[in-house]
Amino acid sequence: MVMHIGILTSGGDSPGLNAAIRGVGKAARNSYGMRVTGFRDGFRGLAENRSLSLEGEALSGILTKGGTILGTARDKPDRMLVDGRPQDMTEVILANYRAHGLDALVCLGGGGTQKNALVLQQKGLRVLTLPKTIDNDVAYTDTTFGFDTALGIATEAIDRLHSTAHSHHRIVVVEIMGHRAGWLALGAGIAGGADVILIPEIPYDVDCIADAILERVKVGKNFSIVAIAEGAMSVAEAEARQAVEFQRLEAEQQGDKKALRVAKETRLRIEAEHFGHTQRLAQQLEQKTALESRLTILGYLQRGGTPSAADRLLATRLGSACADLIQQGGSGVMVAARGESTEAVPLEQVAGAKKLVPQDHPWIQSARRVGTCLGDG
Ligand code: F6P
Repeated sequence: MVMHIGILTSGGDSPGLNAAIRGVGKAARNSYGMRVTGFRDGFRGLAENRSLSLEGEALSGILTKGGTILGTARDKPDRMLVDGRPQDMTEVILANYRAHGLDALVCLGGGGTQKNALVLQQKGLRVLTLPKTIDNDVAYTDTTFGFDTALGIATEAIDRLHSTAHSHHRIVVVEIMGHRAGWLALGAGIAGGADVILIPEIPYDVDCIADAILERVKVGKNFSIVAIAEGAMSVAEAEARQAVEFQRLEAEQQGDKKALRVAKETRLRIEAEHFGHTQRLAQQLEQKTALESRLTILGYLQRGGTPSAADRLLATRLGSACADLIQQGGSGVMVAARGESTEAVPLEQVAGAKKLVPQDHPWIQSARRVGTCLGDG
């Protein structure tokens, strides 16, 4: 029987998604004669039955394209906004999966997608995933496609910011994507020679940063580059988040609804206050060092454009390995990068897990050895 597979892309877009769609689809068609159907805009397209054939020329000319030809969205299968209300659409998705006669569904996405894929696997679909995100924070895979391209974009940005910071004797704070994990800011900060690198995993002390910058001034370096992840935070904010998480857990254990509500309101207030933190840091550093400070937010530049060669290679490796796995009966797994090979990791293991930067990671050690300030003294 010729197998028929579905593909969708979910969560934030990233370079390499089209290369991965092509890797899965071409391998499935060429090696096993499978039929391939794409679904638009993540899990929503599957729920609304918006599909397109990926036969014939559909996969030609997309290897080098940024974004995703399928479109993407952040909808969750079991809590999807329909008519303004969150609804469980898993039954509808299962019905559409069966109506298309699919033998397997391949979901390309980050941490949230792995969790959503497990929900559908447990509902009775046969689901396999590929790890995608510029944040590189999907657990149990060496890396994710999208990360290498974003690393190059952010590094080039830091290179360019060096010349203007040097010319104006300024502090330039460059905000890099990475809400939960600091891989992108750390990697680009090291590669770009940032003087200060701030990541979510190491809460920072502003005075420590100012002292490091003033030490540079003493030796005639009247400019500094501060690479900061969007999720990095001060020691005070980290302590506030820790306290409210403790309150939430305690309220949950005691079944205290009022305390749970208070904890949630406190968390939302902390998150609201986090907004604009990099601009505030730039202003604080200007006050503490008397050097002019300017902020640049790289934002979606890091997710745009053609994938790097490394991401194209990684996406093709993972995508084509996924087609093999489907042929061999694989189900409920993420196709993870492991060295030069791949490994099928159960979705139960991946879902909900995060890959954060360990305090003793070789990149952290390298940064400290070359004198980079990590905000912690
Ligand atoms: O998960 C990748 C990512 O780019 C994060 O780095 C960033 O915080 C987030 O997506 C932005 O989400 P959205 O594209 O929904 O604004």
